Amino acid sequence: MAKIKLDIFRFDEATDTVPHRDVVDVDIPETVTVLDALEHAKAEIDGSISFRRSCRSAICGSCSMNINGVTGLACKTNCKDVVKDDGSIQIDPMPNFQPMKDLVVHMDPFWDKYARLKPYLQPKDKDSEHETERRVSPDDMKKLVDVANCIMCATCYALCPVVSVDPAFAGPAAIAYAYRFIEDVRDGKRDERIAQISEDYLWLCAHCYACSYCPKHVDPNWRIVDVKRAAIKDRVMMNERGPRHALVFAKSVKQLGVLNEADLIQGTIGRFNIVGLTKVMPQAVRMAARGKLPPPFMKPIPKVDEVRTIFDSLEVPVS
Ligand code: SF4
Ligand code: SF4
Ligand code: FES
Repeated sequence: MAKIKLDIFRFDEATDTVPHRDVVDVDIPETVTVLDALEHAKAEIDGSISFRRSCRSAICGSCSMNINGVTGLACKTNCKDVVKDDGSIQIDPMPNFQPMKDLVVHMDPFWDKYARLKPYLQPKDKDSEHETERRVSPDDMKKLVDVANCIMCATCYALCPVVSVDPAFAGPAAIAYAYRFIEDVRDGKRDERIAQISEDYLWLCAHCYACSYCPKHVDPNWRIVDVKRAAIKDRVMMNERGPRHALVFAKSVKQLGVLNEADLIQGTIGRFNIVGLTKVMPQAVRMAARGKLPPPFMKPIPKVDEVRTIFDSLEVPVS
């Protein structure tokens, strides 16, 4: 048995204006999960402690919370792996969500972003037009298996720094789920789905890999790369700044072996977008004054051919 101090965030939006913390001492086997420890605290010490849970098996996605500052499933986190030297575990609600009561948060923004991408199959043909099941080859199915394991726990969403600064961003889970239908050969709305997720700020993803921690190995960060590749390959929403930025970036590195930042800014904004270019002019002048603007004509680096061989292996066109 181990004595553990659960240092719990407490807040009730119905009665409190500011949160406070309660430290609850529990005496439990050290091998139990953080969720078990919370259940014990609620059953034996303070019945008002609120948190979501259902399956206790990393299946339902309900129990995501911050444990010592790291978001994860409480039912998949052993106390012995996270207890600090002073015997405490700090437990907070997921970031990027409004707290409702203690560890329970308002999930509406997360679900709304799912709903916008129409998370159900929209087949090419009508149900009435086919007499057998719609078949998918094992190779086509392989692409979808991992992402179909998503339990919508919102851990990745809570970890995403872009969601924290721009709540309009669809977030990693919704984009990964969009991928699940974009790459489904039975679905008939591929272009519409790519356009929808582009409108929901697909291109804002900064590829920081914070969402690479996913309890079900969905790897949303790589699915975001796949959706961006699909957008460029299918030439969907190519007038947006996001795909233009990606293509100019890649083209510059392919031609020169390094990034030409002046060209990147022009290409992203639009070379004939006078209003847009005028807006960034003061910044360009400041950069030039500090010697940070690259020369207008840059030469390729030595051995640029070695860089170009990387691009030759890519499937996405760099133009
Ligand atoms: S992608 Fe992973 S972390 Fe994100 S909601 Fe799905 S299961 Fe949770
Ligand atoms: S990789 Fe993109 S979606 Fe994932 S956490 Fe970073 S910014 Fe957010
Ligand atoms: S209780 Fe279901 S995922 Fe943790």
